[in-house]
Amino acid sequence: MCGIVGYIGKKEAAPIILDGLARLEYRGYDSAGMAVFDGEKVNITKTVGRLKVLEELTHGGETMPGFSGIGHTRWATHGAPSNSNSHPHFNKDKTIMVVHNGIIENYIPLRNKLIKKGYEFVSETDTEVVAQMLDYYHKGDPLETILKVLNRIEGSYALGIMFTDHPGEIFAARKGSPLIAGQSKDGCFIASDVPAILRYTRTVYFVEEQEIVRLGEDRMRFYTMDEEEVEKEPVTIEWDADAAEKAGYEHFMLKEMYEQPKTIADTIAPRIQKDKIEIEELGLSDEEIRAVRKVHIVACGSAYHAGVTGKYVLEGLARIPVEVDLASEFRYRDPILEEGAMVIAISQSGETADTLAAIRESKRKGFRVLGIVNVVGSSIAREADNVMYTWAGPEIAVATTKAYSAQLVALYLLAVKFASVRKTIDGALYASLLRDLKRLPDQVELLLNNKEKIQHFANRYIGARDVFFIGRGIDYAISLEGSLKLKEISYIHSEAYAAGELKHGTISLIEEGTLVAAVSTQPALYQKIISNMVEVKARGAFLLAVTNEGNREIEKVSDYVIYIPETNPFFANSLAIIPLQLFGYYVAVGKGCDVDKPRNLAKSVTVE
Ligand code: AGP
Repeated sequence: MCGIVGYIGKKEAAPIILDGLARLEYRGYDSAGMAVFDGEKVNITKTVGRLKVLEELTHGGETMPGFSGIGHTRWATHGAPSNSNSHPHFNKDKTIMVVHNGIIENYIPLRNKLIKKGYEFVSETDTEVVAQMLDYYHKGDPLETILKVLNRIEGSYALGIMFTDHPGEIFAARKGSPLIAGQSKDGCFIASDVPAILRYTRTVYFVEEQEIVRLGEDRMRFYTMDEEEVEKEPVTIEWDADAAEKAGYEHFMLKEMYEQPKTIADTIAPRIQKDKIEIEELGLSDEEIRAVRKVHIVACGSAYHAGVTGKYVLEGLARIPVEVDLASEFRYRDPILEEGAMVIAISQSGETADTLAAIRESKRKGFRVLGIVNVVGSSIAREADNVMYTWAGPEIAVATTKAYSAQLVALYLLAVKFASVRKTIDGALYASLLRDLKRLPDQVELLLNNKEKIQHFANRYIGARDVFFIGRGIDYAISLEGSLKLKEISYIHSEAYAAGELKHGTISLIEEGTLVAAVSTQPALYQKIISNMVEVKARGAFLLAVTNEGNREIEKVSDYVIYIPETNPFFANSLAIIPLQLFGYYVAVGKGCDVDKPRNLAKSVTVE
């Protein structure tokens, strides 16, 4: 996610902003910038690259004197990393400056309106629209101007704003993206997160949804969208800086698991307009969608597991044949790609060497590649013909959770869109699928908030030697990811099996007390998985079942059951994976493993 820092007070603003941005680096970014008022005008320096580049350009802030300013580290969503796309953004006269964290969903129509009124844009970002709109509405009262703009933008924002005609103040507002304010004896602060200002003050105000902040040198005022001033109670932060970076969570992995409701919502919301799925970045007309004869999905690791689910959902809903390949296999098997085929490459980092090679192989053979990628401007994002971003924000933990969940919903959106265009589903099912998609964030939140049961169960398996995950269809895909989560962070041997495959060899491994996690979210296969569970139970297995609320029959053969809320079976992966992520996490924590940085692993495998 982007990072925002603002300061106004008795001290030089630039060094404070640079220091604050440095404490937000963990959030991930690709460019940085700041604006400081020097008493007469606002100086702006911004650059693509690491914060160090901005520090060097400004000699540690010395080239930007002044006592009020705003700064930003950008995690690109709209517009690849570049100097012009970096923040702050500003109006033509440089009298209004803006930094932003979030996504302005309706920026295209707003930008078109401003262009018709003679405005020119110098960046590809959604944020620049905010700066130009503030210019358009500004008649002298900053609060009035800000309210007019906030009432017209849709999406999420944490904004830092400066008006040169109000040099003794800086302004901020939030909706959907985090924002705090703070005060010390030397001035007032805004920031995306606590670590940025912890060095200067532990007295923090958490800005609420749709609140506006007005900061002076020695006072802060908070307003509602009705321009009513509100009194806020400060919070004293007890965390140390390291804990603050994780927002109080013990590990980034746990923090990112709890970000999944938001990353799912952020990936879905902009693509459902007026109850219709719109995926503009797909680059395919309805006619081209109807002409697709086959889909090849290529990916590695968890992204591959998401692709296996994608196969079942695309085939089930859109009735398109789908082949899923490990990218490392695809790239060397001289794949046969038929007329009318398209390739989907899935990658969180956008830098995985095997997946990149698979894309190049596909393009060499003359086939279109759609990337489902999290890192904007990454190699895969640049080399794919079209990119559907997952907008999960930077993922710090090596073991992916929120990006994987965002990949799943991107595939669901694609499948429902294709099914609707190819008329393999009717209007009623389309509407029902959209309803179920929109409910996923809250259902994931519910599962995360009931973590105690799985945490208690996990503690019993810290000493486990072998754990098996079994399932059929989409439940097999879920088992693949559940098994990887456990083994990559707890170092316990684990395998996922298509449940029908057990009797072809694996069942010989089942001993007294062996843990078998049976995933059963597909009603059409309930009976089949129960038969497999009976088989392993007869050989001494301890059975954990993850299944839908209401599937009570499974209790007869299970030793422990985790229920997930009702959703369309095609979307069940998004819910069933939550207890399995938590299981892997708590086993690893119980073993004292380095959860965020497991041994031998890298966040992005950029070599073969
Ligand atoms: C998943 O927890 C692992 N970190 C790993 O399997 C990862 O999914 C794989 O390396 C693919 O990475 P990518 O999504 O960045 O391409």
